[in-house]
Amino acid sequence: MTKRITIAIDGPAGAGKSTLARRIAAKLGYVYVDSGAMYRAVALWALRANVALSDMHRLEQLANAAHIEFAPGGGAVLLNDEDVTSAIRTPEVSQAASEVSLVPAVRRALVQKQREIGEQVSIVMEGRDIGTVVFPDATVKIFLDAIPEERATRRANEVALPPEIVERQIRERDQRDRGRAESPLVQAPDAVYVDTTGLGIEEVEAVILKIIRDRTSNGRERTQ
Ligand code: DC
Repeated sequence: MTKRITIAIDGPAGAGKSTLARRIAAKLGYVYVDSGAMYRAVALWALRANVALSDMHRLEQLANAAHIEFAPGGGAVLLNDEDVTSAIRTPEVSQAASEVSLVPAVRRALVQKQREIGEQVSIVMEGRDIGTVVFPDATVKIFLDAIPEERATRRANEVALPPEIVERQIRERDQRDRGRAESPLVQAPDAVYVDTTGLGIEEVEAVILKIIRDRTSNGRERTQ
């Protein structure tokens, strides 16, 4: 007998969550869900609509109204049917996403959308609160981490900015993500901590796949 599997991958920016979650989902045939992209999509909409990031009521309305979809294969992100895959990756949107994610009503709206996806199919979902809040009963929980310098170097390569600037941005975002009152970034007690510092993608992937296999049987939940 098989059952829907939920793999939760949480951790700070630049820990490698997206790359790993996408690869693992592809390997196991599950749907990859980037929950950060949902916060980014709401932030993009707010910036475009000139909604102040302090206007909690309007932000809540946008989060509820946002129609966010992930194209199959873990590629494109659609906001209200528009492909916003690259528009949500600018430093401005990163900053705004971190701010809109502080708003409890925005979180409630997006958590509900995230749970709806997980109720239908087996998923690998990555974010900050997946194992703690969104899916406290996830089949497998991973907390992915690396030292800030290395996370900054990885991000700097992606966004073509000097590592010192990216490191400062990452430390600021870490502080906000870890320090917020609502669903702060924290390791779930039953999550497996994986430090990716100094490791390549393949090595981390092998570690995570082993953790998943140890808890499930070939990606299927054990029935006993
Ligand atoms: O993972 P990311 O950098 O794309 O996330 C963008 C922002 O959204 C980040 O500052 C933290 C926030 N976020 C969150 O609060 N909860 C999640 N589950 C995912 C992201």
